[in-house]
Amino acid sequence: MKRLTIPAIRRRKQDGVTAEPIVMLTAYTARQAQLLDAHCDLLLVGDSLGQVIYGLPSSVPVTLEMMIAHGAAVVRGSYHAAVVVDMPFGTYEQSPQQAFANAARLLKETGCAAVKLEGGAAMAETVAFLAERGIPVMGHIGLTPQAVNVLGGYNARGRSDAEAQKIVSDAVALDKAGAFSIVIEGVVEPIAIAATQAIACPSIGIGGSAQCDGQVLVTEDMLGMFERVPRFVKRYADMATVVSEAAGQYAAQVRDRSFPGVEQTYQPK
Ligand code: KIV
Ligand code: NA
Repeated sequence: MKRLTIPAIRRRKQDGVTAEPIVMLTAYTARQAQLLDAHCDLLLVGDSLGQVIYGLPSSVPVTLEMMIAHGAAVVRGSYHAAVVVDMPFGTYEQSPQQAFANAARLLKETGCAAVKLEGGAAMAETVAFLAERGIPVMGHIGLTPQAVNVLGGYNARGRSDAEAQKIVSDAVALDKAGAFSIVIEGVVEPIAIAATQAIACPSIGIGGSAQCDGQVLVTEDMLGMFERVPRFVKRYADMATVVSEAAGQYAAQVRDRSFPGVEQTYQPK
């Protein structure tokens, strides 16, 4: 299997439709990447790792160093999917130059194929600046978690006419600026569909619509690692129960000395 390229992903949407939806999941570690790689077109090293791995209250405190460490691990663990790494809050908003310097570090130090950044029309100039200089950019609009302090929470977007129009015009601005794909998160379905139809590049929905050109979920959410998840998460496994039952059995066997058994100990010849 040869690694998918960003232009190949971009080309999946032709004449306004994507015949086969694009499959994306998050990955933060090499082993996770190994397990997901064959099933996915794109692996996203999301800044959701702040909450999922580091127990942070939001993605706002995530650093470039964290993204580099986990991005490099995911690239090492995969060879089929194209790897996209999130730019953390505060590493790209100031200027196109700031964004380029930090995005270049992500590409050089992780080996990823592209970066993702949050924001609509306000980020269009930056997206063009990067794309014209060799850094493919995925946009991210609608519910943008790095803006939690402005949005006031993680509620779905696009319920008012003004908000709905802004989401569609943000999508168009990023598409025109040269984004190769755009994540549409937590948006009322008709607006996710309208934004998808308004752009030439593929949309990737999360809390969007099955009519988006692809879908993404946080892998740990999809695996049922967490009790509380947003409406848009579908659980495909119950890993929390698997892990806690295994840990419970191990603990009981350590305590009653049935582990380690003969099979797990080294005996003299
Ligand atoms: O950080 C993340 O995991 C994301 C996806 C949910 C799109 O940005
Ligand atoms: Na993110």
